[in-house]
Amino acid sequence: MLALTDFSARLIAWQRIHGRHDLPWQNTRDAYRIWLSEIMLQQTQVSTVIPYYARFLERFPTVTTLADAPIDDVMALWAGLGYYSRARNLHRCAQVVAHEHGGAFPETVDALAELPGIGRSTAAAIASFAFGARATILDGNVKRVLARVFGVDGFPGEKRVENAMWTLAESLLPDAAEKEDVTAYTQGLMDLGATLCVRGKPDCARCPFAPDCVANVEGRQRELPAARPKKAVPTRNTWMLVLKDGDSILLEKRPPTGIWGGLWSLPEAPDEATLVAVAQNFGGEAHLERLAPLSHTFTHFKLQIEPRLGQASGAPAQAMDAATVWAPLSRIDSFGVPAPVRKLLDALTGSLI
Ligand code: ADE
Repeated sequence: MLALTDFSARLIAWQRIHGRHDLPWQNTRDAYRIWLSEIMLQQTQVSTVIPYYARFLERFPTVTTLADAPIDDVMALWAGLGYYSRARNLHRCAQVVAHEHGGAFPETVDALAELPGIGRSTAAAIASFAFGARATILDGNVKRVLARVFGVDGFPGEKRVENAMWTLAESLLPDAAEKEDVTAYTQGLMDLGATLCVRGKPDCARCPFAPDCVANVEGRQRELPAARPKKAVPTRNTWMLVLKDGDSILLEKRPPTGIWGGLWSLPEAPDEATLVAVAQNFGGEAHLERLAPLSHTFTHFKLQIEPRLGQASGAPAQAMDAATVWAPLSRIDSFGVPAPVRKLLDALTGSLI
């Protein structure tokens, strides 16, 4: 087993030379910017996050501007990043920081972890990047690194394995470190997991831990970390209505919780006959045209979408309430629309206009 005291020193030395130093959320100690990046990066890769991050900061340069913005504006800017509870928690967190903490993020892991949307690992990442705190992170990438280097068996999503990894991760922190060392150490864990110790084909030849890494020495890179025990994901079917009136289509606001909570989407029904009734309720004709089906996989199920195109004419203002809107096709961008629905509408736009 690798000498534990050597782990942090080797990682910090590696990070300084081979790690990432120019990501948009680096080279700052501004907790707002760091927090925003960490929330966006929770389930989303760096290349996807970068343009969203830039747009968010341009529109909301401070935590107070974000706190004071309407939730719909936040959702619209978030649309496409997925996992929308992150956006609702982001907004709530900004409000707590702005109104209960005087606009400044708290500096300890425990206080940060009290805020909406900030778990133990994210709190530690913010504390170490923004305040130089000696704090332990443990996200998916870090679990992969530790499982391989130290040969930790078992699926890391399982509580028992995860607890063991927290203990291990805590024991590896550099002791009595300078702020700069803490930052390089935390970033080094992330960088190693994202650039060398990747899931598919790790680049062990460049890794500073190669001579001691259990997975490398024993040729078990593909087995470590252990995969999630297999469980079939169920399929759910839904029928979606693209109801067109002139240059507008009908959008319906989804309930605040559940998938795509708070986003604008197409009206849905559990079967075709019900969808026809929905269309007629909004002034549409009974005949609906079949469009190409599409599917979207969520963490726990697969959604099979059967889209139908219908025509409505006249008086689109009728039968409207706060949760429905006739949206001009040219302005779909300004509504927060889930990515698969957006893709469907994009594919149609050419033929509709
Ligand atoms: N993933 C999570 N946090 C990150 C960060 N600060 N830099 C790069 N990738 C990350």
